[in-house]
Amino acid sequence: MPLVSPKQMFKGAYTGGYAIGAFNVNNMEIIQGIMEAGSEEQAPLILQVSAGAKKYAGLGYITKLMEAALLETDLPVVLHLDHGANFEICKEVIDGGFTSVMIDGSHLPFDENIALTKQVVEYAHDKGVWVEAELGRLAGVEEDVVSEEHIYTDPDEAVEFVERTGCDSLAIAIGTSHGAYKFTGVAKLDFERLDKIASLIPDFPIVLHGASSVVPEFVVMANEFGANIGGAKGVPEDLLRKAASKAVCKINIDTDIRLAMTAVIRKFMAENPTEFDPRGYLGEARKAVKEMVRHKITNVLGCSNKV
Ligand code: G3H
Ligand code: 13P
Ligand code: ZN
Repeated sequence: MPLVSPKQMFKGAYTGGYAIGAFNVNNMEIIQGIMEAGSEEQAPLILQVSAGAKKYAGLGYITKLMEAALLETDLPVVLHLDHGANFEICKEVIDGGFTSVMIDGSHLPFDENIALTKQVVEYAHDKGVWVEAELGRLAGVEEDVVSEEHIYTDPDEAVEFVERTGCDSLAIAIGTSHGAYKFTGVAKLDFERLDKIASLIPDFPIVLHGASSVVPEFVVMANEFGANIGGAKGVPEDLLRKAASKAVCKINIDTDIRLAMTAVIRKFMAENPTEFDPRGYLGEARKAVKEMVRHKITNVLGCSNKV
């Protein structure tokens, strides 16, 4: 049965010093590229759907596309809701068969975040569904909300939050951010904070959002073929690898998928001006997603052959 809960995946990841990739999906080509990479590497996968993806593709369509992928694979796959904004959206996807949800109350005051998370936990656990919550705030753009500053996760609050909510995993803020512009100066993550949190809530899976590395090759390629995304900078791969070897069990990647597709589509169109069959450029985009995800699995996440 390919559709699974993150429970076993994270257990292996925690003890084995690797992380599972959680890839944002918006259309068929993205799903196929990720699945092909997972299959070649024999890696467990998390496919995650944001509110933006739901709005773009429709929940019915995107769920059916993921179900089609499940029919063609033996890999363990988690279907996860990314950045659930309220109880209703979590309930909707739980009722629709997702095995994991994120309730994101990170913008709320501490006690309100706890109350909202707890409400989702009660509903989800009753149906055997995993709940990721978030404490702390990432800088950057997220679901149209721009947060100027990081608010790093307080380790003592993390302990209290997990105890009071009963959530299953926790997204923390240690210096990553969403989007393509993560660092202006030297890239660094607060590993001391991560270690402190891990020591206070041992064996508890930690999640890293905003964890694209903003692959320079794709930024250069996109710019060479007309894009204007100068100054883009992601989390260096060695820092992600280090996080994966610690308590971080889930690493979220969306921006790298967007960049890979955009770069190769721009290149394809510039080099093939007479082509107008979408299968040409979307096929190239699918290949680029696959190769990028394979690279993540082998060089960053360390989850090859962990099924
Ligand atoms: O964290 C945000 C993800 O990158 C999803 O972005 O809401 O534009 O799909 P989106
Ligand atoms: P990136 O923007 O770094 O890809 O982060 C994606 C993410 O955290 C989705 O929840
Ligand atoms: Zn995120």
